[in-house]
Amino acid sequence: MSKENIYSPNKGRNFYSVKEILNKIFFTFKKKRKIFYELLYLTFAIKLYHKISAKIIIFFVKRFGFDFYNNNKILRLLFFSGIRGMSLEEIFRIREPHIIKIKKNDDKILDDNYKNIIIEIREKGFCNVSNIFNLKDKDAENVKNFFKTKELYNGHDPLQSDLKKINYSKIYNHEAKHEIFNKGYFSFDVETSLENQLINNLFTSKKLKIIADLYCGFDTEPYTISTMLNIKKEILHPVTSFHRDTDDFISLGFFIYWSKTDKNNGATKYKIGSHRKDNNNNSEFILEANPGTIIAGDWMGLHSGNQKMEDRERLITMIRFGKKINQSYMQTKSYYFF
Ligand SMILES: [Fe+2]
Repeated sequence: MSKENIYSPNKGRNFYSVKEILNKIFFTFKKKRKIFYELLYLTFAIKLYHKISAKIIIFFVKRFGFDFYNNNKILRLLFFSGIRGMSLEEIFRIREPHIIKIKKNDDKILDDNYKNIIIEIREKGFCNVSNIFNLKDKDAENVKNFFKTKELYNGHDPLQSDLKKINYSKIYNHEAKHEIFNKGYFSFDVETSLENQLINNLFTSKKLKIIADLYCGFDTEPYTISTMLNIKKEILHPVTSFHRDTDDFISLGFFIYWSKTDKNNGATKYKIGSHRKDNNNNSEFILEANPGTIIAGDWMGLHSGNQKMEDRERLITMIRFGKKINQSYMQTKSYYFF
């Protein structure tokens, strides 16, 4: 179980000063403040609230079943941070029975393409789904050029940055003094990503939703979208250590690569099968990708970013599907966009 216990390098760590925390709390992407969501966002700061929420979720799941909790918008809103207050054991104890139940439907999937994808994700934790979309080199080139004209934040997510938008031409100018700002990860906000027509089409694509619905076993919708840029430098950031994304008990995320990645240039690593409780094979797989590649993954499995960015920059868009109100939706303040 030792490897299974690896959770998140961020858990229990605080990278922010009081001033930075206050800035995050008041940050609204220059939009009209959504007070209700912001009050809930405040509970992120209260560890005791996570613990209590965890107990409440466990109670509801035990008493009324996972589906009841999963479909209940009010419980999700009030206790979205409960998953943070849980041990990995507790998370798997909720997630596993649901997966065992829905897996029985995999055989009934009529379309062989989809069926094979789902079976592969169940087994390994990820699957290359590029052939469903067939994006071309030219598409990737257009997307890269589009983002070069846009402003970005100096963290792997806007809310994990100093909250100041900068010009693309400034990305090599800054010195890294902060633990997570200016570490080689930059990000564009939701609005900028969705301004791009191709990305917008993917976000609303029926095909991504079908894959996510089949994998999760319920009606899903996108809950976050982010486009990330890595610059050419050695990257030491918490996400370049093996970790699990505990957005929710079950969800599916699509990584769309606009640049070529390999083991020396930003390729994500995944421990095969580490999304399953019964797994004991922990071989590491390097997700090398050509421009236009789409990887569907269960990022609850152990994965890590890559510290090496030797020859080129990396641009990647991530779209995650599941039940919309979850910890990641709240943490990224996606409620300002959709
Ligand atoms: Fe991650």
